[in-house]
Amino acid sequence: MQHALHICKPENGEFLRRELELRGHAVTRRGDGFALASFPDGQPPPELAFATATLLEPAELAAPSVNAIAGAAADFTVTSFKDFRVDAPWPFIFETGPGEGLPGRAKSVAEEWRKRLSGKMSRVSKLAVDEPPPPMQVTRGLFVFFTEFNRFHAAGRFVLWGQRRMRDDSLAPSRSYLKAEEAYGILGREPHSGERVVDLGAAPGGWSYSAAKRGAHVAAVDNGPLKGGAADNPLIQHLRVDAFTYAPPAGSRTDWLFCDMIENPYRVLELIRGWLEHGWCRRFVVNFKYGHVDPVALAEKVRDPHAGLGGYCRVLRVRCLHHDREEITVVGEVKE
Ligand SMILES: C[S@@+](CC[C@H](N)C(=O)[O-])C[C@H]1O[C@@H](n2cnc3c(N)ncnc32)[C@H](O)[C@@H]1O
Repeated sequence: MQHALHICKPENGEFLRRELELRGHAVTRRGDGFALASFPDGQPPPELAFATATLLEPAELAAPSVNAIAGAAADFTVTSFKDFRVDAPWPFIFETGPGEGLPGRAKSVAEEWRKRLSGKMSRVSKLAVDEPPPPMQVTRGLFVFFTEFNRFHAAGRFVLWGQRRMRDDSLAPSRSYLKAEEAYGILGREPHSGERVVDLGAAPGGWSYSAAKRGAHVAAVDNGPLKGGAADNPLIQHLRVDAFTYAPPAGSRTDWLFCDMIENPYRVLELIRGWLEHGWCRRFVVNFKYGHVDPVALAEKVRDPHAGLGGYCRVLRVRCLHHDREEITVVGEVKE
Protein backbone atom coordinates (compact mmCIF):
# COMPACT_ATOMS: atom_id res chain seq x y z
CA MET A 1 0.00 0.00 0.00
CA GLN A 2 1.06 3.61 -0.60
CA HIS A 3 0.28 6.30 1.96
CA ALA A 4 -0.61 9.87 1.21
CA LEU A 5 -1.54 13.06 3.00
CA HIS A 6 -4.11 15.05 1.06
CA ILE A 7 -4.45 18.74 1.86
CA CYS A 8 -7.64 20.76 1.38
CA LYS A 9 -9.32 23.97 2.46
CA PRO A 10 -10.41 23.42 6.10
CA GLU A 11 -14.10 23.74 5.18
CA ASN A 12 -13.76 20.96 2.56
CA GLY A 13 -12.45 18.21 4.86
CA GLU A 14 -15.62 16.12 4.82
CA PHE A 15 -15.96 16.42 1.02
CA LEU A 16 -12.34 15.30 0.61
CA ARG A 17 -12.90 12.29 2.87
CA ARG A 18 -15.96 11.21 0.87
CA GLU A 19 -14.14 11.65 -2.46
CA LEU A 20 -11.27 9.45 -1.22
CA GLU A 21 -13.62 6.78 0.05
CA LEU A 22 -15.58 6.77 -3.22
CA ARG A 23 -12.28 5.86 -4.91
CA GLY A 24 -11.65 3.07 -2.44
CA HIS A 25 -8.88 4.87 -0.52
CA ALA A 26 -9.08 3.98 3.17
CA VAL A 27 -8.96 7.21 5.19
CA THR A 28 -6.93 6.49 8.30
CA ARG A 29 -7.09 9.96 9.86
CA ARG A 30 -8.73 13.30 9.27
CA GLY A 31 -7.81 16.67 10.69
CA ASP A 32 -8.33 20.35 10.00
CA GLY A 33 -7.46 20.75 6.32
CA PHE A 34 -6.04 17.30 5.69
CA ALA A 35 -6.78 13.58 5.37
CA LEU A 36 -4.37 10.65 5.55
CA ALA A 37 -5.27 7.75 3.31
CA SER A 38 -3.76 4.64 1.79
CA PHE A 39 -4.17 3.25 -1.70
CA PRO A 40 -2.88 0.26 -3.65
CA ASP A 41 0.71 0.15 -4.98
CA GLY A 42 1.21 1.03 -8.61
CA GLN A 43 -1.69 3.49 -8.77
CA PRO A 44 -1.03 7.20 -9.44
CA PRO A 45 -2.18 9.70 -6.80
CA PRO A 46 -5.90 10.36 -7.28
CA GLU A 47 -7.10 13.57 -8.91
CA LEU A 48 -9.77 14.95 -6.59
CA ALA A 49 -11.92 18.06 -6.69
CA PHE A 50 -11.23 19.01 -3.08
CA ALA A 51 -7.50 18.27 -2.64
CA THR A 52 -5.02 21.09 -3.22
CA ALA A 53 -1.85 19.00 -2.73
CA THR A 54 -0.95 15.37 -2.10
CA LEU A 55 2.16 14.37 -0.14
CA LEU A 56 3.41 10.86 -0.92
CA GLU A 57 4.75 8.64 1.85
CA PRO A 58 4.72 11.49 4.40
CA ALA A 59 6.56 11.22 7.71
CA GLU A 60 4.89 12.70 10.77
CA LEU A 61 7.39 14.45 13.03
CA ALA A 62 7.15 16.44 16.24
CA ALA A 63 9.68 18.65 18.01
CA PRO A 64 9.40 21.28 20.77
CA SER A 65 11.02 24.40 19.23
CA VAL A 66 11.73 26.16 15.93
CA ASN A 67 15.33 24.94 16.06
CA ALA A 68 14.37 21.36 16.80
CA ILE A 69 11.68 21.29 14.08
CA ALA A 70 14.08 22.83 11.53
CA GLY A 71 16.72 20.26 12.51
CA ALA A 72 14.23 17.39 12.06
CA ALA A 73 13.13 18.80 8.68
CA ALA A 74 16.77 19.16 7.57
CA ASP A 75 17.53 15.55 8.61
CA PHE A 76 14.43 14.43 6.74
CA THR A 77 15.61 16.29 3.60
CA VAL A 78 19.07 14.71 3.76
CA THR A 79 17.54 11.22 4.06
CA SER A 80 15.05 11.83 1.30
CA PHE A 81 17.79 12.95 -1.15
CA LYS A 82 20.23 10.21 -0.05
CA ASP A 83 20.09 8.01 -3.15
CA PHE A 84 19.17 10.75 -5.56
CA ARG A 85 21.56 12.87 -7.61
CA VAL A 86 20.38 16.50 -7.51
CA ASP A 87 21.53 18.58 -10.50
CA ALA A 88 18.56 20.89 -11.05
CA PRO A 89 16.66 23.41 -8.93
CA TRP A 90 14.13 21.74 -6.64
CA PRO A 91 11.15 23.25 -4.85
CA PHE A 92 10.41 23.48 -1.17
CA ILE A 93 7.04 24.38 0.32
CA PHE A 94 6.10 25.08 3.93
CA GLU A 95 2.33 25.14 4.38
CA THR A 96 0.01 24.94 7.32
CA GLY A 97 -3.45 23.91 8.42
CA PRO A 98 -5.75 26.59 9.83
CA GLY A 99 -4.40 26.65 13.43
CA GLU A 100 -3.63 29.99 15.07
CA GLY A 101 -0.03 31.17 14.66
CA LEU A 102 0.89 28.34 12.27
CA PRO A 103 1.87 30.52 9.25
CA GLY A 104 4.37 32.47 11.40
CA ARG A 105 5.71 29.23 12.85
CA ALA A 106 6.17 27.73 9.37
CA LYS A 107 8.00 30.86 8.15
CA SER A 108 10.46 30.81 11.06
CA VAL A 109 11.08 27.09 10.62
CA ALA A 110 11.63 27.48 6.85
CA GLU A 111 14.31 30.13 7.43
CA GLU A 112 16.12 28.02 10.02
CA TRP A 113 15.73 24.85 7.91
CA ARG A 114 17.55 26.52 5.00
CA LYS A 115 20.49 27.47 7.21
CA ARG A 116 20.74 23.98 8.61
CA LEU A 117 20.42 22.32 5.24
CA SER A 118 23.20 24.48 3.87
CA GLY A 119 25.44 23.19 6.69
CA LYS A 120 24.59 19.59 5.81
CA MET A 121 24.32 19.64 1.98
CA SER A 122 25.70 22.92 0.70
CA ARG A 123 25.47 22.18 -3.05
CA VAL A 124 21.95 20.71 -2.83
CA SER A 125 20.68 23.49 -0.59
CA LYS A 126 21.80 26.15 -3.11
CA LEU A 127 19.47 24.54 -5.66
CA ALA A 128 16.40 24.83 -3.37
CA VAL A 129 13.80 27.26 -4.75
CA ASP A 130 10.84 28.80 -2.95
CA GLU A 131 8.49 28.51 -5.93
CA PRO A 132 5.66 26.09 -6.63
CA PRO A 133 6.51 23.48 -9.27
CA PRO A 134 4.23 22.80 -12.25
CA PRO A 135 0.96 21.20 -11.14
CA MET A 136 -0.42 17.71 -11.80
CA GLN A 137 2.91 15.91 -11.66
CA VAL A 138 4.81 14.08 -8.98
CA THR A 139 7.62 16.44 -7.95
CA ARG A 140 10.73 15.69 -5.95
CA GLY A 141 11.57 18.33 -3.34
CA LEU A 142 10.36 19.04 0.17
CA PHE A 143 6.80 19.67 1.31
CA VAL A 144 6.29 20.43 4.99
CA PHE A 145 2.74 20.70 6.32
CA PHE A 146 2.11 21.90 9.88
CA THR A 147 -0.94 20.45 11.60
CA GLU A 148 -0.05 21.80 15.04
CA PHE A 149 2.49 24.23 16.48
CA ASN A 150 4.99 21.45 17.20
CA ARG A 151 3.84 18.77 14.78
CA PHE A 152 4.20 18.48 11.03
CA HIS A 153 4.25 16.09 8.09
CA ALA A 154 7.14 16.08 5.61
CA ALA A 155 7.40 14.44 2.22
CA GLY A 156 10.09 14.32 -0.47
CA ARG A 157 7.56 13.66 -3.26
CA PHE A 158 4.32 15.52 -3.77
CA VAL A 159 1.76 16.73 -6.30
CA LEU A 160 0.17 20.18 -6.46
CA TRP A 161 -3.29 20.15 -8.01
CA GLY A 162 -3.06 23.65 -9.49
CA GLN A 163 -5.09 25.90 -7.15
CA ARG A 164 -3.39 29.19 -6.39
CA ARG A 165 -4.09 32.73 -5.30
CA MET A 166 -4.17 35.04 -8.33
CA ARG A 167 -3.23 38.69 -8.59
CA ASP A 168 -6.10 41.13 -9.06
CA ASP A 169 -6.31 43.63 -11.91
CA SER A 170 -7.63 47.14 -11.22
CA LEU A 171 -9.70 47.07 -14.44
CA ALA A 172 -11.32 43.70 -13.66
CA PRO A 173 -15.01 44.36 -12.99
CA SER A 174 -15.49 41.52 -10.48
CA ARG A 175 -13.73 39.13 -8.11
CA SER A 176 -14.92 36.35 -10.42
CA TYR A 177 -12.12 37.45 -12.76
CA LEU A 178 -9.68 35.66 -10.43
CA LYS A 179 -11.46 32.32 -10.97
CA ALA A 180 -11.00 32.48 -14.73
CA GLU A 181 -7.34 33.41 -14.30
CA GLU A 182 -6.84 30.50 -11.90
CA ALA A 183 -8.75 28.04 -14.12
CA TYR A 184 -6.35 28.54 -17.08
CA GLY A 185 -3.52 27.17 -14.92
CA ILE A 186 -5.57 24.04 -14.16
CA LEU A 187 -6.19 23.45 -17.87
CA GLY A 188 -2.61 24.43 -18.81
CA ARG A 189 -3.84 26.79 -21.52
CA GLU A 190 -5.30 30.28 -21.71
CA PRO A 191 -7.16 32.15 -24.46
CA HIS A 192 -4.89 33.42 -27.22
CA SER A 193 -5.10 36.51 -29.35
CA GLY A 194 -7.67 36.08 -32.12
CA GLU A 195 -9.47 33.14 -30.48
CA ARG A 196 -13.22 33.29 -29.99
CA VAL A 197 -14.96 32.97 -26.64
CA VAL A 198 -18.64 32.70 -25.68
CA ASP A 199 -19.20 33.77 -22.07
CA LEU A 200 -22.58 32.65 -20.63
CA GLY A 201 -23.63 34.67 -17.58
CA ALA A 202 -20.92 37.22 -18.33
CA ALA A 203 -21.92 40.33 -16.34
CA PRO A 204 -20.31 42.38 -14.93
CA GLY A 205 -17.61 40.96 -17.18
CA GLY A 206 -14.67 39.58 -15.21
CA TRP A 207 -14.24 36.46 -17.33
CA SER A 208 -14.88 38.35 -20.59
CA TYR A 209 -12.29 40.93 -19.58
CA SER A 210 -9.79 38.18 -18.71
CA ALA A 211 -10.10 36.74 -22.26
CA ALA A 212 -10.20 40.13 -24.00
CA LYS A 213 -7.03 41.30 -22.25
CA ARG A 214 -5.30 38.37 -23.99
CA GLY A 215 -6.63 39.55 -27.36
CA ALA A 216 -9.54 37.08 -27.69
CA HIS A 217 -12.92 38.10 -29.17
CA VAL A 218 -15.75 37.57 -26.71
CA ALA A 219 -19.53 37.20 -27.06
CA ALA A 220 -20.70 38.15 -23.56
CA VAL A 221 -24.18 36.71 -22.96
CA ASP A 222 -26.07 38.34 -20.09
CA ASN A 223 -28.95 40.73 -19.52
CA GLY A 224 -26.95 42.58 -16.88
CA PRO A 225 -24.56 45.47 -17.60
CA LEU A 226 -20.84 45.05 -18.27
CA LYS A 227 -18.54 47.19 -16.14
CA GLY A 228 -14.91 48.24 -15.68
CA GLY A 229 -12.52 46.90 -18.32
CA ALA A 230 -15.36 44.91 -19.94
CA ALA A 231 -17.61 47.95 -20.62
CA ASP A 232 -17.17 49.38 -24.14
CA ASN A 233 -14.30 46.99 -24.76
CA PRO A 234 -13.87 46.71 -28.57
CA LEU A 235 -13.13 42.98 -28.24
CA ILE A 236 -16.32 42.27 -26.27
CA GLN A 237 -19.74 42.05 -27.92
CA HIS A 238 -22.53 42.24 -25.34
CA LEU A 239 -25.54 40.02 -26.17
CA ARG A 240 -28.54 40.68 -23.92
CA VAL A 241 -30.15 37.25 -24.29
CA ASP A 242 -30.90 34.18 -22.19
CA ALA A 243 -27.93 31.78 -21.99
CA PHE A 244 -30.30 28.78 -22.03
CA THR A 245 -31.72 29.69 -25.43
CA TYR A 246 -28.63 31.27 -27.00
CA ALA A 247 -27.05 29.22 -29.82
CA PRO A 248 -23.88 30.22 -31.68
CA PRO A 249 -24.06 30.94 -35.43
CA ALA A 250 -24.78 27.75 -37.42
CA GLY A 251 -21.67 25.81 -38.40
CA SER A 252 -19.41 27.77 -36.04
CA ARG A 253 -17.21 26.27 -33.32
CA THR A 254 -16.00 28.62 -30.65
CA ASP A 255 -12.52 28.16 -29.16
CA TRP A 256 -13.76 28.62 -25.59
CA LEU A 257 -17.03 28.30 -23.75
CA PHE A 258 -17.14 30.12 -20.42
CA CYS A 259 -20.09 29.73 -18.06
CA ASP A 260 -20.49 31.27 -14.61
CA MET A 261 -24.20 31.54 -13.79
CA ILE A 262 -25.98 31.52 -10.46
CA GLU A 263 -28.29 28.67 -11.42
CA ASN A 264 -29.09 25.12 -10.39
CA PRO A 265 -25.81 23.28 -11.13
CA TYR A 266 -27.57 20.28 -12.69
CA ARG A 267 -29.36 22.64 -15.08
CA VAL A 268 -25.99 24.19 -15.98
CA LEU A 269 -24.55 20.69 -16.51
CA GLU A 270 -27.32 19.86 -19.00
CA LEU A 271 -26.64 23.14 -20.81
CA ILE A 272 -22.92 22.36 -21.12
CA ARG A 273 -23.65 18.78 -22.23
CA GLY A 274 -25.77 20.27 -25.01
CA TRP A 275 -22.85 22.46 -26.15
CA LEU A 276 -20.49 19.49 -26.18
CA GLU A 277 -23.05 17.23 -27.88
CA HIS A 278 -23.41 19.81 -30.69
CA GLY A 279 -19.64 20.28 -30.94
CA TRP A 280 -20.03 24.05 -30.39
CA CYS A 281 -16.77 24.57 -28.45
CA ARG A 282 -13.20 23.27 -28.26
CA ARG A 283 -12.52 24.03 -24.58
CA PHE A 284 -14.50 25.20 -21.62
CA VAL A 285 -14.32 26.74 -18.18
CA VAL A 286 -17.52 26.28 -16.17
CA ASN A 287 -18.24 27.29 -12.60
CA PHE A 288 -20.90 25.35 -10.67
CA LYS A 289 -22.40 26.96 -7.57
CA TYR A 290 -23.37 24.00 -5.46
CA GLY A 291 -25.45 25.82 -2.83
CA HIS A 292 -27.69 23.16 -1.27
CA VAL A 293 -26.65 20.45 -3.71
CA ASP A 294 -24.19 17.75 -2.54
CA PRO A 295 -20.88 18.88 -4.12
CA VAL A 296 -19.29 15.41 -4.08
CA ALA A 297 -22.22 13.87 -5.99
CA LEU A 298 -22.15 16.85 -8.36
CA ALA A 299 -18.41 16.44 -9.07
CA GLU A 300 -18.95 12.71 -9.72
CA LYS A 301 -21.80 13.40 -12.12
CA VAL A 302 -19.78 16.05 -14.00
CA ARG A 303 -17.01 13.46 -14.54
CA ASP A 304 -19.39 10.66 -15.50
CA PRO A 305 -18.74 9.52 -19.10
CA HIS A 306 -22.46 8.96 -19.80
CA ALA A 307 -24.51 11.32 -17.65
CA GLY A 308 -21.82 14.02 -17.40
CA LEU A 309 -19.02 15.52 -19.51
CA GLY A 310 -16.41 12.73 -19.28
CA GLY A 311 -17.43 11.03 -22.52
CA TYR A 312 -16.91 14.19 -24.61
CA CYS A 313 -13.51 15.22 -23.29
CA ARG A 314 -9.84 14.52 -23.88
CA VAL A 315 -9.03 16.50 -20.73
CA LEU A 316 -11.47 17.09 -17.88
CA ARG A 317 -10.48 18.54 -14.53
CA VAL A 318 -12.78 19.29 -11.63
CA ARG A 319 -11.51 21.48 -8.83
CA CYS A 320 -12.54 23.61 -5.93
CA LEU A 321 -10.31 26.58 -6.77
CA HIS A 322 -8.55 28.84 -4.30
CA HIS A 323 -10.97 31.60 -5.40
CA ASP A 324 -14.08 29.37 -5.35
CA ARG A 325 -16.62 29.83 -2.54
CA GLU A 326 -19.13 26.95 -2.31
CA GLU A 327 -18.33 26.35 -5.95
CA ILE A 328 -16.42 23.95 -8.13
CA THR A 329 -14.83 24.87 -11.42
CA VAL A 330 -14.55 22.47 -14.32
CA VAL A 331 -12.14 22.88 -17.22
CA GLY A 332 -11.91 20.67 -20.26
CA GLU A 333 -10.77 20.08 -23.80
CA VAL A 334 -13.24 18.42 -26.10
CA LYS A 335 -12.27 15.36 -28.20
CA GLU A 336 -11.76 16.31 -31.87
C1 LIG B 1 -21.69 35.29 -10.88
S1 LIG B 1 -22.29 36.34 -12.11
C2 LIG B 1 -21.10 36.18 -13.37
C3 LIG B 1 -19.82 36.88 -13.07
C4 LIG B 1 -18.91 36.96 -14.26
N1 LIG B 1 -18.37 35.66 -14.64
C5 LIG B 1 -17.75 37.89 -14.01
O1 LIG B 1 -16.62 37.45 -14.07
O2 LIG B 1 -18.00 39.07 -13.77
C6 LIG B 1 -23.65 35.47 -12.74
C7 LIG B 1 -24.32 36.11 -13.92
O3 LIG B 1 -25.15 35.14 -14.54
C8 LIG B 1 -26.19 35.83 -15.17
N2 LIG B 1 -27.25 34.90 -15.51
C9 LIG B 1 -27.99 34.11 -14.69
N3 LIG B 1 -28.89 33.40 -15.41
C10 LIG B 1 -28.69 33.75 -16.70
C11 LIG B 1 -29.30 33.37 -17.93
N4 LIG B 1 -30.30 32.49 -17.97
N5 LIG B 1 -28.83 33.92 -19.08
C12 LIG B 1 -27.83 34.83 -19.06
N6 LIG B 1 -27.23 35.22 -17.93
C13 LIG B 1 -27.65 34.70 -16.77
C14 LIG B 1 -26.59 36.88 -14.16
O4 LIG B 1 -27.25 37.95 -14.80
C15 LIG B 1 -25.24 37.28 -13.58
O5 LIG B 1 -24.76 38.45 -14.21
